[in-house]
Amino acid sequence: MDVRPFWLAGRPAMGEAELPVTNSHDGRVVGIASVPTGDQVEQAVAAAAAVRGRAAALPIHVRAEALAHVSRRIAERAEEFARLIMEENGKPLLWARGEVGRAVSTFRFAAEEARRFGGEVQRLDTDPAAQGRLAYISRVPYGPVLAITPFNFPLNLVAHKVAPAIAVGAPVVVKPAPATPLSALLLGELLAETGLPEGMFSVLPVPNDRAAALVEDPRLPVVSFTGSAPVGYAIADRVPRKRVTLELGGNAAAVVLADADLDHAASRVALFSNYQAGQSCIAVQRVIVEDAVYDAFVERLLPAVRALVTGDPADEKTQVGPMVSEEAAERVERWVADAVAAGARVLAGGGRSGATVEPTVLADVPRDALVYREEVFGPVMVLERVAGVDEAFAAVNDSAYGLQAGVFTRSLDIAFRANRELEVGGVIIGDVPSYRADQMPYGGVKDSGVGREGLRSAMADYTYEKVMVLTGLTL
Ligand code: SIN
Repeated sequence: MDVRPFWLAGRPAMGEAELPVTNSHDGRVVGIASVPTGDQVEQAVAAAAAVRGRAAALPIHVRAEALAHVSRRIAERAEEFARLIMEENGKPLLWARGEVGRAVSTFRFAAEEARRFGGEVQRLDTDPAAQGRLAYISRVPYGPVLAITPFNFPLNLVAHKVAPAIAVGAPVVVKPAPATPLSALLLGELLAETGLPEGMFSVLPVPNDRAAALVEDPRLPVVSFTGSAPVGYAIADRVPRKRVTLELGGNAAAVVLADADLDHAASRVALFSNYQAGQSCIAVQRVIVEDAVYDAFVERLLPAVRALVTGDPADEKTQVGPMVSEEAAERVERWVADAVAAGARVLAGGGRSGATVEPTVLADVPRDALVYREEVFGPVMVLERVAGVDEAFAAVNDSAYGLQAGVFTRSLDIAFRANRELEVGGVIIGDVPSYRADQMPYGGVKDSGVGREGLRSAMADYTYEKVMVLTGLTL
């Protein structure tokens, strides 16, 4: 099997070590990534630092055209990307294709935002002391971005860090998840076609224990990390003076209220607790249901969960595939067993075969169980019965996390109340918390992180406002 080169300052390069990538469904080696040496990492960072000024000065049409090119090329090679994601991540083709479509949009949105992200002018003569003065406010990139990306969306969450960096004129060094580096390496091929200056991007599949050196490198003033809360906050603590954006975990809640369309709510909750085997920060984990409709909802939910097609991710019909590894599945199995030992009842699923965990529904779970409190990141949901809206919203907020929440209601009043009261970065009305449009702000509060993705928001995070004041003007 060929060893895939990594990308060093925009060019393919081979290191001395190799990283085999396996498919968690059947254990096959599906690719081998070359791992950069320490010297090669140094060259990539030095090149990013060297091109910093030129990158910031790149005309906007050049950045936008490069981003549009990548978008078009992902679309042209969509099936290749989808199969690669399926192979390296174990994500069923259904979801892998969805991810590729989203990455096409992510780059396209970045191209559009790059064109809109101009400076603004502020008249200062609102005050007599500033008569004849005008401020020109531009946004300037802090400098090269270190993008540390997770395994669960090996293409689109790379896109969410690379595309806004290019859009603002910042070089980017990507450290993909060691379990799933192949999609990022293929993306490197398309970035290399753009003619962006040397050093503008590198993709370095180094092991996690070599990430700290990159995080601490002063030539990379921005760190954008997606992953677990302990690792994210360790990064922020390590480099308190850097610009750090953290997209961390969640234990997302879906609230089902008495006025909800129960058929719709049940089918969405069933699917989006289990999509990508629950390995999304906004997969439905806690399902908080108003007492008046609890039984009717569960009656609809359980058949919908049991009907999900679980199995080989390469099968077009599969909806729930394996987790990223057998160890990950064993950890979920342990958490379910702990909850059961503490009094929980298994209403559906509960079994495991290799890396595949059956779509699992639990009831009567104590609030201090790991499957309730922590991010399960597996195909497991916890049902909770509540008396009404007050109790439902209090339950949502009884969490260290705050990424997104979904509220199934038809009431506009309750929708606005949810928006006011729920301690999360995003409230989705009439749907699951798992909804994400790639152009909208995305990120959390509490232990779910700081900063926002979504092209415009990430571009703001990667830049600072700079003011130039013109004086002596007749306005
Ligand atoms: C995540 O797991 O945080 C990303 C979810 C998504 O992009 O849909």
